[in-house]
Amino acid sequence: MGFEQLIIRSYEGQSDRTQVEDLERRCEVGPGERVFLFTDTMGDPICRIRNSPMYKMLVAELDKELVGVIQGSIKVVRVHMHPKDLARVGYILGLRVAPLHRRKGIGSSLVRRLEEWFIANDVDYAYMATEKDNEASVKLFVNKFGYIRFRTPAILVNPVNINRSFHISSNVQIVKLKREQAEFLYRKFMSSIEFFPHDIDNILENHLSLGTWVAFPRGESFGSDGGQVPSSWAMLSVWNSGELFKLRLGKAPLSCLIYTKSSRLIDKYFPCLKLPSLPDFFHPFGFYFMYGVHQEGPLSGKLVRSLCQFVHNMAKNKSKDCKVIVTEVGGKDTLLRHHIPHWKLLSCPEDLWCIKALKREERNSLQELTKTPPTRALFVDPREV
Ligand SMILES: CC(C)(COP(=O)(O)OP(=O)(O)OC[C@H]1O[C@@H](n2cnc3c(N)ncnc32)[C@H](O)[C@@H]1OP(=O)(O)O)[C@@H](O)C(=O)NCCC(=O)NCCS
Repeated sequence: MGFEQLIIRSYEGQSDRTQVEDLERRCEVGPGERVFLFTDTMGDPICRIRNSPMYKMLVAELDKELVGVIQGSIKVVRVHMHPKDLARVGYILGLRVAPLHRRKGIGSSLVRRLEEWFIANDVDYAYMATEKDNEASVKLFVNKFGYIRFRTPAILVNPVNINRSFHISSNVQIVKLKREQAEFLYRKFMSSIEFFPHDIDNILENHLSLGTWVAFPRGESFGSDGGQVPSSWAMLSVWNSGELFKLRLGKAPLSCLIYTKSSRLIDKYFPCLKLPSLPDFFHPFGFYFMYGVHQEGPLSGKLVRSLCQFVHNMAKNKSKDCKVIVTEVGGKDTLLRHHIPHWKLLSCPEDLWCIKALKREERNSLQELTKTPPTRALFVDPREV
């Protein structure tokens, strides 16, 4: 096959949609023995980047057949080692090459062209996230393109139990914030956190953002302008990812299947035991993503837990198909991880983020960034889930 026929071009919604969705269905991501989730983009393959300030999707075409795809988005975030503390970053996601056309350099061509688009748009750093045992992806980015392993956040997943609402302690008060209050608090308390997005206002204003809630001990007051905060408090926002795309279990290890079946049977016949059961993941389902989780003060762990229970009840009562609640926390953020309810069976303890400086002058600062221990928290942008 003549390699010259490979064309890399921008995605065109009308003509490429069906082929891209078909390609996604044919590509399993990550090692074979793991749980594998299909992403159903419901007729809009570009939906995962559509809410970012700038985005691009490229396709690879070989003899009129669509054989590869990649997506990228650009935004400004807090990066401590950058001289101005703010940097333009390009996020790479959704790299897929059709199984029959792998190891022919198509994945590399797509990454190269996306990096060129980043460079043309003045991006300082490109970064991507992958499962740490996805050998093909890690070798491509780290060995071939010089990306550096950077952070290992944990993805925490908690199933929604449609038979159970959590009782929230009467000592805890939960209040929904106005959008302006939420922005004020985020900028005041989280803006120094790694990868904090400069356009947090755009995220909070987006129709997928269901709101921001704070929890604090009942009896204490929370300044209406967010200026005065109690001695202990916690905050989080919720993003309705299920409105963008659905997930469906493609393949699961036997242990997971047995567990799903037996836990549902137990729940059906012995409901009084109140054992948590796994929902049906084999049909497309939506999920809520909790972002901007923040805690302050000695009692804040309990407050984070109450907020998570509140979000669980909201998903159970208000959403037709939200079956899991997901969040992502910095790898070293063991405190937060401890307070956020999650199932180990469904969660991923170490997602791998890799980063690369695209400008010569950023290379030294990047060495510093990867050498320094990760700060306690990491802001995971819901637009990049
Ligand atoms: C990862 C993927 C996109 C690579 O596409 P590709 O077109 O085969 O990649 P390339 O041919 O450009 O390979 C470039 C380099 O990546 C590495 N690589 C690619 N596939 C590999 C594999 N299966 N095992 C080990 N290394 C691999 C090699 O270093 C390779 O260089 P080489 O062929 O000179 O040894 C493809 O395997 C895929 O679609 N996988 C499923 C989806 C996925 O996991 N995407 C990544 C999510 S971040």
